[in-house]
Amino acid sequence: MQDDDFPMEQWEMVDEGWGRLAADFATMREPSNMREYVSMHHLLGIDEGDRVLDVACGAGLALELAGLLGAECFGLDASPRLVDIARMRTPTADIRVGDMNALPWPDASFDVVTSFRGIWATTPTAIVEALRVLRPGGRIGLTVWGHLKVSSGAWALQPLRLASEQDVSHQAEMQMGRPGVGERFLLDAGFVDVQRVVVPFAWESADPEQFARALVSTGPAFEAIKEVGEQEFYEQTFALARAHAHDGLPIRAEIDVAGFIARKPVEVPTSYEDEPTGNFLGWYPPSAGSEKLRRDDVEGEGFVWNVSRLWGRAPESLEHIAGVMDDAVKLGNLTMRQRGVLITAMASELGDSYCSLAWGGKLAKQTDDEFSAAALRGDDTPLEPADRALAEWARAVVRDPNATTPQDVARLRDVGFTDDQIFAITFYVAMRLAFSTFNDALGTQPDAKLFARLPERIREAVTWGRSPL
Ligand SMILES: C[S@@+](CC[C@H](N)C(=O)[O-])C[C@H]1O[C@@H](n2cnc3c(N)ncnc32)[C@H](O)[C@@H]1O
Repeated sequence: MQDDDFPMEQWEMVDEGWGRLAADFATMREPSNMREYVSMHHLLGIDEGDRVLDVACGAGLALELAGLLGAECFGLDASPRLVDIARMRTPTADIRVGDMNALPWPDASFDVVTSFRGIWATTPTAIVEALRVLRPGGRIGLTVWGHLKVSSGAWALQPLRLASEQDVSHQAEMQMGRPGVGERFLLDAGFVDVQRVVVPFAWESADPEQFARALVSTGPAFEAIKEVGEQEFYEQTFALARAHAHDGLPIRAEIDVAGFIARKPVEVPTSYEDEPTGNFLGWYPPSAGSEKLRRDDVEGEGFVWNVSRLWGRAPESLEHIAGVMDDAVKLGNLTMRQRGVLITAMASELGDSYCSLAWGGKLAKQTDDEFSAAALRGDDTPLEPADRALAEWARAVVRDPNATTPQDVARLRDVGFTDDQIFAITFYVAMRLAFSTFNDALGTQPDAKLFARLPERIREAVTWGRSPL
């Protein structure tokens, strides 16, 4: 109920239309949108550990799918009844009721922001808010209605024109699918690398009744219902859907949707001589290669790695050594988990805190925090026999390569590794050891920003080597 002393804000009224049939919307309308969600997540390269915010997340199906890709999920919608469903679907996510024009998160909180038909030309503040909460280099993915007239399924939106003239013209003002319009909207807000992308979109229903119920559950339908009443809206939609039904097939309406992806620009300081180098050496004249290393780091992680500050002196040599390590990975077909076990064992035996921390974090994502912390401590109890054989071998190679025996190699064969793989595994450990030795000898410190992001258990397990800076 509205209190005259505290009138409701515009966004708080959204639930009236979008939330009134929330369960119908979540189960009859939203599942058809999955094509759009899956293809946008793929285009954005959403991956394990990405912090993803979905603006106007509705009943949260897009977030649930991002969670299945390993993303850490955040959402916001104005409709409390839709948010209840989104929270039910992804209980681990931080999903809030609120206004997309005032996002309740600090600056630079997310790697990725998505909004599926949630941010429009009529919401210019929302796009500036999306930019604010993205970290530099972070990606945005938006969808809006595209060229409706050429869409074979445009008929499916026709009943929404039963709304008042004012509401229909507002819907037209929202559009930004026309060539150049969405691109300009994102550029004006401050995004870069704006691209228009193809996003499939089709509504499907089993029969005209289900089709009509699904459309009735949406917010724009509510605007039409206010004009003509629910019965009339339902009947007109039902009749339209029946005219598009084909025996034995679902009713399918393909609608053109315009997708956009873009990035938040990265500000890489051009003068950084006052910054610490993070190692014992001084600064060097910047080169195209060292600047690229810095830019790639900021775009990828949000900060410049200390190891890049060191290698910026010879970026091509870094590429060569990384290439040789990649050769070993390919030769042995080494999985991320196997690499994590080998490097944590190698680095902890050597006393290299940088690689221990960086790879301890990666191994925790492949397994869990306790597994990775145990591998770092040299406690092989939770390790599988193959992991254990790898860890023992990596430690033996670091400790004293002249003391290894045919029996040590036989232990690797016993757990299923071929001689080609044993060659690649040893090659990999030796190359990583060279890399670590070089970095450590020149005093390269682990990054404080990396350290702050790691799970507590990993931080506690690494008690050796140089401290974070
Ligand atoms: C077209 S729906 C899209 C929902 C969801 N993204 C999907 O794919 O189904 C628009 C959504 O925007 C939400 N919404 C409208 N105005 C809003 C505002 N000011 N702040 C946050 N959410 C809003 C509605 O509650 C609704 O869930």
